[in-house]
Amino acid sequence: MNSITTSPRPPDGARRTALRASLLHALREPHSADDSASYEYFEDGLLLLEGDRVVRAGAAGELLPGLDERDDLHEHPGRLIVPGFVDTHIHYPQAEVIGSYGTRLLDWLERYTFPAEARYVDYDYALARAHAFCDELLRNGTTSALVFCTVHAQSVEAFFAAAQGRRMRVIAGKVLMDRNAPEHLRDTPERGYEESAALIERWHGQARLGYAVTPRFAPTSSARQLALAGKLLQEYPGVHLHTHLSENVEETRWVAELFPEASDYTDVYDRAGLVTGRSVFAHGVPLTERERHCLGRAGAALAFCPTSNLFLGSGLFDYEGARAAGIEVGLGTDV
Ligand code: GUN
Ligand code: ZN
Repeated sequence: MNSITTSPRPPDGARRTALRASLLHALREPHSADDSASYEYFEDGLLLLEGDRVVRAGAAGELLPGLDERDDLHEHPGRLIVPGFVDTHIHYPQAEVIGSYGTRLLDWLERYTFPAEARYVDYDYALARAHAFCDELLRNGTTSALVFCTVHAQSVEAFFAAAQGRRMRVIAGKVLMDRNAPEHLRDTPERGYEESAALIERWHGQARLGYAVTPRFAPTSSARQLALAGKLLQEYPGVHLHTHLSENVEETRWVAELFPEASDYTDVYDRAGLVTGRSVFAHGVPLTERERHCLGRAGAALAFCPTSNLFLGSGLFDYEGARAAGIEVGLGTDV
């Protein structure tokens, strides 16, 4: 019988809260636009929480009779409750340069991104921005995110502290960047490795936090730095890999010049052991069939960032091509 009367009362002190509104949640990935078995929708629904945990979601008519006077019922007629959104690719230091006018990616990095990221050398500044960023995510319904910080370890410290205080599910990491960037934003392969390892030890698995080894993208890392990123993945098998891949054609040409030994952009990462089932690559706009198969075979995922692709004129993402190759695709904002 689908009733909350079957849920035992929580131990003394734990409060039950019931929220009455329309409810919508996904049960699995939809196979088509009208795949009604992939979600559940209750026009008049009830969400029951014990403390801060959801214990039931269903039709109000079925669940209301199980409530009693100790329960706290909040009614929100005409409102829709959905699970928190997941942003699969976002940069917290770039919230302050959203919408800055630029031409294309590489120009945009030089003009706006790098100057903004330089300020995160200061922990207090980073912490203030991390608090503002987390508040903004929650205000927009995003409770989980995969996040770029900056090259400064303290930017990661600040971000995890802010997210942990709000009990958010975030995976983040220090940017690895040892070339083709301003000097004050560069690390070295060894320093990047050591700082990442220390951050993993301190934060990975704490509360709802996870770590992603985060080389910015192939042009800003030497082959040695990418290899050490691969070593981190081997040494800490629970962490993720998060980077950019093939955002536009100009970038892929640059990568071909920088890594002539690689067969394509994806191969640069693959040679370093970075294409895995725990890897998330932002963009993947121009990709060859070989690259798609390499990603799909490894179980890697792409973060599809439509707003960014259009704003920076990067191109259109081939969703069908990615899915046909078995690549997992998630949505990202990339601000
Ligand atoms: N590729 C490397 N770095 C970045 C970045 O900060 N933003 C975007 N959109 N692409 C990148
Ligand atoms: Zn990005």
